[in-house]
Amino acid sequence: MLGRWPHEDRFERVTDMKKLIAGNWKMNGDTSSNAALLDAVLLGTADLTGCDVLVCPPSLYAAAVVARLNGSAIAVGAQDVSTAEKGAYTGEISATMLRDIGVRYALVGHSERRQYHHETDALVGEKAQAALSKGITPIVCVGETLAEREADQTNAVVKRQLAAAIHAVGHCVSEIVVAYEPVWAIGTGQTATPEQAQMVHAVIRAQLAAATPNAEKVRILYGGSMNAANAASLLAQPDIDGGLIGGAALKAEDFLTIIRAAQA
Ligand code: PGA
Repeated sequence: MLGRWPHEDRFERVTDMKKLIAGNWKMNGDTSSNAALLDAVLLGTADLTGCDVLVCPPSLYAAAVVARLNGSAIAVGAQDVSTAEKGAYTGEISATMLRDIGVRYALVGHSERRQYHHETDALVGEKAQAALSKGITPIVCVGETLAEREADQTNAVVKRQLAAAIHAVGHCVSEIVVAYEPVWAIGTGQTATPEQAQMVHAVIRAQLAAATPNAEKVRILYGGSMNAANAASLLAQPDIDGGLIGGAALKAEDFLTIIRAAQA
């Protein structure tokens, strides 16, 4: 299978880029459980050097999480961001507000938002651009459903989703992070094999390379039931530059094991 795509021949991708391990807490946690989780993660990452770590709590808790992580190497991200700068957009949170409280990343186009909030590729692109314009790094999530995979549409779907984001961010493509999250793997315990994931990551890398000379510097995360047991083999793939972790990010020990795997 390897070698089928142009970028798959690079068994050892030469890059000094650190991997990024991002925890997506989704709509979980409360004041006291967040504090306990963060304290355990802080303890386990006191001498963190080899990888970047990010947590994405529900926005309501973001300021408290920023405060608790103050002085540490762990960054804070949002799970979504508005396309608008300010004004009459009830329930929305702007990139300016995120930046104001110390948030540095924002997920855009997570499959749960595409599914439950009917977010389109174009809207996701606009969100990525809105984040970038205020100095927030967007993590653009892409991925196919099971039906799309079974219909052999995986590459076409991922390319279509990414093309909209690339179009929206223009010359800033090298500043985004991409997360490949096959929908059938999210929260199901069914992970893509390292080879399956690498094949799609190579397609994404090639698409980025057509848009920017700095495609090698764009981090492409894998997400979808990444856990303490499978992280090392996924992260060993040449085009997997980190992970977007849901369920396992809520358990300090599991999250720390994944972080250690990324440092290896
Ligand atoms: P999961 O979620 O790790 O629980 O599958 C990943 C995600 O949705 O970002």
